[in-house]
Amino acid sequence: MRHLIKILAIDDDAGVLSVVKAALTGDGIEVLVANDPTVGWEMVRQLNPDIVLLDLVMPALGGMELLDKIVDWNPSIDVVLLTGEYRIEYAVEAIQRGACDYLTKPVEIELLRERVGKLIAGTQNRLRSIEIEEAFVRASQFGEMVGRSPEMLDAFVRLQRIAPHYRSALITGETGTGKELAARALHALSPVSTRPLVVCNCAAIVETLFESELFGHVKGAFTGAVQDRTGMFESANGGTIFLDEIGEVPLVSQSKLLRVLQNQEVQRVGSSAVRTLNVRVIAATNRDLRAMIAKNQFREDLYYRLSMVRVQLPRLVDRKQDLPLLERHFLEEFSRRFAKRIKGITHRAQGLLARYPWPGNVRELENAIGHACMMTAGDNIDVRDLPEDLQNYRHTQGPGAAAPLLTLAEAGRCHAQYVLDRVGGNKQEAAEILGISRNTLYRILKEPLPSNGQTEPGAEPGH
Ligand SMILES: Nc1ncnc2c1ncn2[C@@H]1O[C@H](COP(=O)(O)OP(=O)(O)OP(=O)(O)O)[C@@H](O)[C@H]1O
Ligand SMILES: [Mg+2]
Repeated sequence: MRHLIKILAIDDDAGVLSVVKAALTGDGIEVLVANDPTVGWEMVRQLNPDIVLLDLVMPALGGMELLDKIVDWNPSIDVVLLTGEYRIEYAVEAIQRGACDYLTKPVEIELLRERVGKLIAGTQNRLRSIEIEEAFVRASQFGEMVGRSPEMLDAFVRLQRIAPHYRSALITGETGTGKELAARALHALSPVSTRPLVVCNCAAIVETLFESELFGHVKGAFTGAVQDRTGMFESANGGTIFLDEIGEVPLVSQSKLLRVLQNQEVQRVGSSAVRTLNVRVIAATNRDLRAMIAKNQFREDLYYRLSMVRVQLPRLVDRKQDLPLLERHFLEEFSRRFAKRIKGITHRAQGLLARYPWPGNVRELENAIGHACMMTAGDNIDVRDLPEDLQNYRHTQGPGAAAPLLTLAEAGRCHAQYVLDRVGGNKQEAAEILGISRNTLYRILKEPLPSNGQTEPGAEPGH
């Protein structure tokens, strides 16, 4: 699908506007004009143009001021300054504030077409690469699971291979690594995919009711058993039961569970009748069952019974190459859910996501992107949109004792960066907080960050 490129020209000189409009309007390119900066700003917010041509000297709202607003509102809009009086220091300042080009007036048609043509090509490339990324996400999906890293491909291959044959399987991995998704994929690929998948969250069952929940009971079996009840195993007959958080099953119930698995028979609590079953069992846990066995908290024979087929899901830190793919996946999902047109993630935010250790794995990433999609007012997610824990991460996880001691100037450089990042890149605000002029801030930011400086903790090669 071809994207209509929207260009907005803002200038108080109607002559300039008509020249620009005539010169740039074309196939797939729409040129809108505003001859008043206030109207222009409204139009920016309503139309979200790809490119803005902005007169630098306008009454009411100065060009620089409007530039700041536009860049702050949506950093991905390309802003080109038009300036009457050719003043190189204006141009330099404008570029530093986020404009991407400037042209002098009177506008030369050929030059205008050439420069804006480049920006249009850049926008189209960006859009194409987003389409490619989206196609790549679709191609990297296994059931609901997204991944392309060798670790995930291994897991996919394993799930695919065992799906036709397994009777019981154990899925392990830290919290949020996708164990439930893997269990669902396994069931969906199995020969019983049209039969029920019964999910049993073992951690949520009261210990005394465990057997009744899993195996059922007959009326009068215990106080409160006012009628017969079918257990989850029977409900799953012909299909699959997913025993989530298997490590939470009370020890006394583990032996009964083992017997059911071995014999494929259940007895309802309070009944001697034996019912034969045909149930596949998928168990999952984020606990270290071997360590639990060593402490007599988990039965070794049950462990072996379950773990004949085992799938271990990698931690997100161990498959960071999947981050861009997962980010794109969740971005699409939440853009849809919140009915927002969010195109991407700024480089700064991506850098932070790449450095963060993700103790909550994919779930935590999903929540972070969801939060950012909800918070963002623009069409690219920036550091300031991410949850605070994450924003603060880069500042709290310093290199610790190994950090080199900085000079005052180097520490100042780091601190300026820290403040700038905290205010989402708004240099005006950062300068105010730091108590210095914006020019001084620019000068400081031109200095390179000291290597191993505090604002770049844990930065990995390649990011
Ligand atoms: N590979 C993946 N691709 C896309 N989404 C994923 C992936 N892995 C996990 N998720 C998402 O992350 C969230 C957590 O996944 P899931 O519930 O399967 O994790 P879990 O391993 O069962 O975690 P816990 O041990 O805490 O129960 C879900 O919303 C899931 O959709
Ligand atoms: Mg789970």
